[in-house]
Amino acid sequence: MTTRFLLNGEPQSVEAAPTRTLLDWLREDARLTGTKEGCNEGDCGACTVMVTDADGTARALNACILFLPQLEGRAVRTVEGIAAPDGTLHPVQEAMVEHHGSQCGFCTPGFIASMAIAHLNGERDHEDQLAGNLCRCTGYAPILRAADAAAVKPIPAHMQSDAETLASAPFPVPEISQGESAGRGTASPLAPEGQHEEPFTPTSSDALADWYSAHPDATLIAGATDVGLWVTKLHRDLGQVAFLNQCADLKGISITDDTIRIGAMTSMTEVLAAMKPRHASYAEMIRRYGSVQVRNAATIGGNIANGSPIGDNPPALIALGARLHLRHGDSRREVALEDFFLDYGKQDRAPGEFVEAVSLPVQPDTLRVYKLSKRFDQDISAVCGAFNLVVEDGTITAARIAFGGMAGIPKRAKAVEAALSGQPASQETAAAAMGELAKDFSPLTDMRASAAYRMQAAQNMLLRAVAELSGQATNVLEVRP
Ligand SMILES: Cc1cc2nc3c(=O)[nH]c(=O)nc-3n(C[C@H](O)[C@H](O)[C@H](O)COP(=O)(O)OP(=O)(O)OC[C@H]3O[C@@H](n4cnc5c(N)ncnc54)[C@H](O)[C@@H]3O)c2cc1C
Ligand code: FES
Ligand code: FES
Repeated sequence: MTTRFLLNGEPQSVEAAPTRTLLDWLREDARLTGTKEGCNEGDCGACTVMVTDADGTARALNACILFLPQLEGRAVRTVEGIAAPDGTLHPVQEAMVEHHGSQCGFCTPGFIASMAIAHLNGERDHEDQLAGNLCRCTGYAPILRAADAAAVKPIPAHMQSDAETLASAPFPVPEISQGESAGRGTASPLAPEGQHEEPFTPTSSDALADWYSAHPDATLIAGATDVGLWVTKLHRDLGQVAFLNQCADLKGISITDDTIRIGAMTSMTEVLAAMKPRHASYAEMIRRYGSVQVRNAATIGGNIANGSPIGDNPPALIALGARLHLRHGDSRREVALEDFFLDYGKQDRAPGEFVEAVSLPVQPDTLRVYKLSKRFDQDISAVCGAFNLVVEDGTITAARIAFGGMAGIPKRAKAVEAALSGQPASQETAAAAMGELAKDFSPLTDMRASAAYRMQAAQNMLLRAVAELSGQATNVLEVRP
């Protein structure tokens, strides 16, 4: 299919298979080899590029798990486009030199890209901004010093030019094709390789609903942080695909007096921002969800629809009483989120049905979410526990608790909830309820944790949640930047 985007300021019109990654295209076709391939699965940040949307938002993304069609109408800036056109180094490049931030240099282009984007966006929490960039030689202190030193320097004009170009008329954002799919999505020619099915790129959920009910075996691609790995690691041929990134009505968060509705295509970066003032503990958990690059691509709909037992949103959302909004053709239905997960790898979703949104009731913040993983940043949870406990006059009057990593699906801890409800909010109550966890869960042993460790960690999370939510002092050593 043809994808049109800006590359370091120059318009491109690229014919490629729909699941060709930006990284492969940059290195093999465009011969821009500054962007490196490390892990090819979103973990190391060596392939970080800047992608600017039509609305001017610039973000860091991992090129290795970004398919070319996801770039339609956007601008890409690689490490080759970060120095000024006359060769003057960007302030982050100068600072990396001055502070000895590079040794072998393999990670450096990715660091430079992440640092330049943080510099552009005025982000000053460099540990957070660089958590998705790994360096195995230099060590992080000189790199963080460089980021600090560059922060006070002005933004070079060329770094703002992509947003300006996208906002101006000349950049040829493609017209929607006429005919059968006019106003409903663009149908593109086959890739030069020939054997790929024509991808569908709907621009509305109505168009997606019509098409998907007629093509129920197709693969939906949202942020591609899961699907990307099916291609780069499993070498899977996805067959027919639909890219959802142009479905504007699936994006964004709407808030009324009683409901927060989050569109399926809302990125985890946006969910973090919305949760920060409302459910700070959930937001803090999301801060450790992948990295900046992953959160910028990953959507909440993809995290729910993939049905992973260790997806981090479902426990928090179940504890908040979330409901899932599903659509099949013209019919819509909603289910309590916990009822969506039926069994390992099995969800309550019919062929041709997709996730439109997830909604949760507006409520006082009584939520605590604890993510336990081997590495603090950018690691999949061994156990993720979410506790929504209402404590009134020293008594637990309502309890909704859910865990990830404790069963084949994200699951409520109903026996524990029953053991807590109506009881004094005390350590004795928590200790008694800890034993009930074995009625709710029989966790597995795998590479992330043993069953016994998972059970003990979950019990300790419960103890901590009751202590915190009942106002008792907790003495937990937490890693904080
Ligand atoms: C380096 C790295 C770190 C990660 N860290 C975490 C982490 O800390 N916590 C965590 O929970 N996850 C993590 N993930 C997993 C992944 O990022 C999340 O599951 C993410 O939210 C998936 O969203 P996506 O938009 O990228 O989905 P995609 O990869 O596009 O799709 C995932 C699945 O959902 C389906 N799908 C997508 N949207 C819809 C829809 N609207 N309706 C129906 N089906 C749909 C797709 O067909 C596919 O089956 C990580 C991934 C990577 C690569
Ligand atoms: S190559 Fe490691 S994140 Fe892309
Ligand atoms: S300088 Fe070698 S990996 Fe960072």
